Amino acid sequence: MFHRFLVLSLVLMYCNMTEAQKIPTIYEEENVPKYTLPDPLIAEDGTPIKTAKQWINQRRPEILKIFEEQVYGRAPEFKGEIQFKVLEEDKNALGGKAIRKQVKVQLTNKADGPSMELLIYSPKNAKGPVPTFLTLNFYGNHTIHTDPAIHLSESWVRNNSAKGTKDNRATEKSRGASAERWPVERILERGFAIVAIYYGDIDPDFDDDFQNGVHPHYLSEGQKKPGPDQWGSISAWAWGLSRAMDYLEKDSLVDPNRVAVMGHSRLGKTSIWAGAQDTRFKVTICNNSGCGGAALNRRRFGESVRRINTSFPHWFCDNYVQYNDNEGDLAVDQHMLVSLIAPRAILICSAEEDRWADPKGEFLSAFHADSVYRLLGVEGIAAKEMPGLDQPVMSPIGYKIRPGKHNVLASDWEVYMDFANKHFTK
Ligand code: GCU
Repeated sequence: MFHRFLVLSLVLMYCNMTEAQKIPTIYEEENVPKYTLPDPLIAEDGTPIKTAKQWINQRRPEILKIFEEQVYGRAPEFKGEIQFKVLEEDKNALGGKAIRKQVKVQLTNKADGPSMELLIYSPKNAKGPVPTFLTLNFYGNHTIHTDPAIHLSESWVRNNSAKGTKDNRATEKSRGASAERWPVERILERGFAIVAIYYGDIDPDFDDDFQNGVHPHYLSEGQKKPGPDQWGSISAWAWGLSRAMDYLEKDSLVDPNRVAVMGHSRLGKTSIWAGAQDTRFKVTICNNSGCGGAALNRRRFGESVRRINTSFPHWFCDNYVQYNDNEGDLAVDQHMLVSLIAPRAILICSAEEDRWADPKGEFLSAFHADSVYRLLGVEGIAAKEMPGLDQPVMSPIGYKIRPGKHNVLASDWEVYMDFANKHFTK
């Protein structure tokens, strides 16, 4: 039964993709439509926001609510204590460089409900709790490193022979398949811990009307699927990051006041939405996050709102579809998502050849969030124009663009770590 449903979902996904390909893509600046951005410092009733207090009490909640109800969908409040079980711990992992822990964290209050597995590597020689990167990955924790002790994920995974997955399951061949993106030893050497979670533990990434993952566990009585203003998959993944944070607050390896949430691509969209909602994340890093992440919607450059809603109907809430080719009617744009993170630090990262994600639109979101940071008494972005390649701007709103494609490189991590070191306060 599940198998038939899955096949149907994948056929639907294929049809959505073909449908999406018919939508024209803007790749030239001269074809970007004229647009006016909503001002983060003018409230919906027209009141100018002039003080930090007005921002905190009036405008920030207003903007957050619009993103919740019109874009990503509101996630349920998690009630109760987070339940977890340490499945494995090795104080001498990676040839003596690391402490490794694998922890099962429940996503409901029921022991037989869905759970996610956290893989934690922490530097062995640390004198106390350390700054930490919290990250989601695409193919399972066992893909981030060849360490044979990492549990092979048993969750549904996308088929991809390059990643060693078959029949939507991980195989031994998938071990270390994404290791290039995760310089674990280097992260440890620089004194950070890294926490990895497979995003499919929280919600498998295909459109099945929210019958699997966490969604069905939070429906109200008689409800069959989330309502038009309730959580899509990105919201669920972001919510999962907050549940991971609930756990990390209890783990003595981690300094909960120095947790950076980092993600790439759709998981970059997720990290920025997580950082916007959960103020426990002191640093947010979104890599090549594009449409629905850092890029401005109104530019329609590369991937547009219509295109993303057609290809990935489960990522956002159903209300978001109203803004297909109609971005101007949405009371927010993505610079206001960045503004929700103020005064905490965010690093927005682009790649020159990743035009699908609109590097310029990613920079402009950073740029237009500046006024909110300044109102809150911190420097916003220390750049008036888009910086050149490999010239990272390291102010509280940080921005960097490097040559090359849509990807995460070891060299990107060096900048993430420099940025985190600069903005974490002890
Ligand atoms: C597609 C999608 C992007 C997304 C990317 C990814 O390219 O259109 O929005 O960021 O997949 O997550 O890999």
